Amino acid sequence: MNIKKIRSLNGVIEVPGDKSISHRAVMLGALADGDTEIYGFLKGADCLATIDCFRKMGIKIDESEDRIIVHGKGLHGLRAPSETLYTANSGTTTRLLCGILAGQGFDTQITGDASVQKRPMKRVIEPLSKMGAHIEGDFCPLRITGSKLKSITYDMTVASAQVKTAILLAGLYADGTTTVNEIEKSRDHTELMLSSMGADIKTNGLSVSVSKCEKLTPHNITVCGDISSAAFFMVAAAVMPDSRVTIKNAGINPTRSGIIDVMREMGADITVTGEHTVSGEPVGDITVSSSKMHGTKISGPIIPRLIDEIPAIAVLAAFAEGETVISDARELKVKETNRIRAIVDEFTKCGVDITETEDGMIIRRTKNIKGADFKTYGDHRMAMSLAILAQNAEGESSLDDSRCVDVSFPGFFDLFYSLEN
Ligand code: S3P
Repeated sequence: MNIKKIRSLNGVIEVPGDKSISHRAVMLGALADGDTEIYGFLKGADCLATIDCFRKMGIKIDESEDRIIVHGKGLHGLRAPSETLYTANSGTTTRLLCGILAGQGFDTQITGDASVQKRPMKRVIEPLSKMGAHIEGDFCPLRITGSKLKSITYDMTVASAQVKTAILLAGLYADGTTTVNEIEKSRDHTELMLSSMGADIKTNGLSVSVSKCEKLTPHNITVCGDISSAAFFMVAAAVMPDSRVTIKNAGINPTRSGIIDVMREMGADITVTGEHTVSGEPVGDITVSSSKMHGTKISGPIIPRLIDEIPAIAVLAAFAEGETVISDARELKVKETNRIRAIVDEFTKCGVDITETEDGMIIRRTKNIKGADFKTYGDHRMAMSLAILAQNAEGESSLDDSRCVDVSFPGFFDLFYSLEN
């Protein structure tokens, strides 16, 4: 796909539903006793893979234009799939399912695409094994033998909501109370949704506990816009001259809103209005206008709050005065691709002054960024970040694979060009 430079962006938009919340709504809906109607569900490839896995385990899921209905069968209502569960490009589906499948009364095999097959699964297998799970393989394909689980107290070694959630979901089936101690606070959508469905879940600082659960009570869920998708428009509006974009109904859960803090710190013109709660999640309208920005340091506890936004923030940094140093972001190496390496290699192609470090990168303001032929590595967030970089570069650029944006943001390019003026 060819990408051309555009002058400015203006308008009011909504972005598709939050990917993390959409996955959880289907999973917990399937385990609840009765029907869950989900509005604003993200019909991206990752979340459709989650639907497919649950259908293969006997859950009826109806899809229509404005909602999906999950006909939950209770915590013990899944049945053995007749084939391997396929999670496509979705690490979230894969890891969260491990937590659910470990405690079932049947065995399963699970695998995903080439990227998922390279993603580390030991991080979920290790705690789940301590709970009595039997999972073979450190990478997909995994073979999971349904087992009786016991509760544990687990000290996490990485900041990961996927690992935390896998343990909590297994904890629903384990005798006693399962506790996870995080090293940094990661996204808490699982805790919020489980609690709203009646699970006995308690959070105390970095500690989260869940007790064995008899029943999850279904209720309708409205999924807010994904701040990780909004991020591309936030950055583009900040960087392009004469721009102003409002993203309405975007999730602003504090465990996800690190990009707002960083943009403010960098001097961006950003406001959040109309704050309210939708299905237990904080939501608001984010408005960003073009402004002059300066570099910053991004490290420590804020990293899990913006981990998926780092490719977009890297674009911002290339246009911000001075230097931006991102560290403590080793986790980027085990995302859909090694995002540290991918950002550095691709940004270098168009002349951005960027240096790879052991746990992040240093980006300096670069004038005269030139168009280039970019590789996306089949990674949706790389593709969208490179697209906004290309739209601000002099001359033509191309992306080798633009379709991968469908993983989290179907319609990204059409929405983007609809704001051009
Ligand atoms: C997610 C957690 C994060 C994030 C991913 C979605 C989730 O991954 O990068 O896109 O929905 O729990 P980690 O748990 O690996 O940090």
